[in-house]
Amino acid sequence: MTGPADRAGFIVAIDGPAASGKGSIATFLARRLGLPVLDTGLLYRAVGVAVEQAGGDLDDDSTAGAAARGLDLDDLGSDALRTRAAGEAASRVAVHTAVRNALLEAQRAFARRPGGAILDGRDIGTVVAPEAPCKLYVTATPETRARRRHAQLRAQGESASLEDVLDDIRRRDARDGDRAAAPMVRAPDAALLDTTDLDIDAAFDAALRIVEASRGRWEKS
Ligand code: C5P
Repeated sequence: MTGPADRAGFIVAIDGPAASGKGSIATFLARRLGLPVLDTGLLYRAVGVAVEQAGGDLDDDSTAGAAARGLDLDDLGSDALRTRAAGEAASRVAVHTAVRNALLEAQRAFARRPGGAILDGRDIGTVVAPEAPCKLYVTATPETRARRRHAQLRAQGESASLEDVLDDIRRRDARDGDRAAAPMVRAPDAALLDTTDLDIDAAFDAALRIVEASRGRWEKS
């Protein structure tokens, strides 16, 4: 079933900190619901990597803003975007309003596809698509997230100690949560999904229940 034709499609906004499981949940839901999915973290990662590759200063608003405006949004498949360094660079460029503004319209256009869409990030339910009928805020303790990210990085061939990955996570949480521009925060109408004690299948089930309930309400409204 779909909603009435005179309104936007069903948007699922998924936010939360690094390695909370939101990306896996977004991919799973996209398959189950047959909706397109956008991992918005990749946009910020691509900007950070572009600035670093050009020898630019990640903390300079105008340098990072220019890189964001020049970004090829169809070129987000590189493994270089999945590294630890890219995550750190992403969170440094993500504090700049010029960067966030440059990436906003593309994210909004994706969200407002007529058939609906799923986006995951930090500010989807608060800034990119505050109108989304379904919002999830996915979280877990920093220690749990560090263990998950550590295992992912090792599988990708990156060696880093668990302590270093935990430091990364804490630093990124603080930077993303404390910044002035679109800070990472749970939208008041977002369902909280804490995956600390859930394995991946239980997290998928919990997310699906939340989405199905929202979809039922949205279809009736
Ligand atoms: O989700 P991921 O870890 O790939 O995001 C990398 C960084 O990009 C985050 O730490 C955050 O600083 C930034 N980001 C953001 N807003 C989003 C998505 C990601 O600020 N919607």
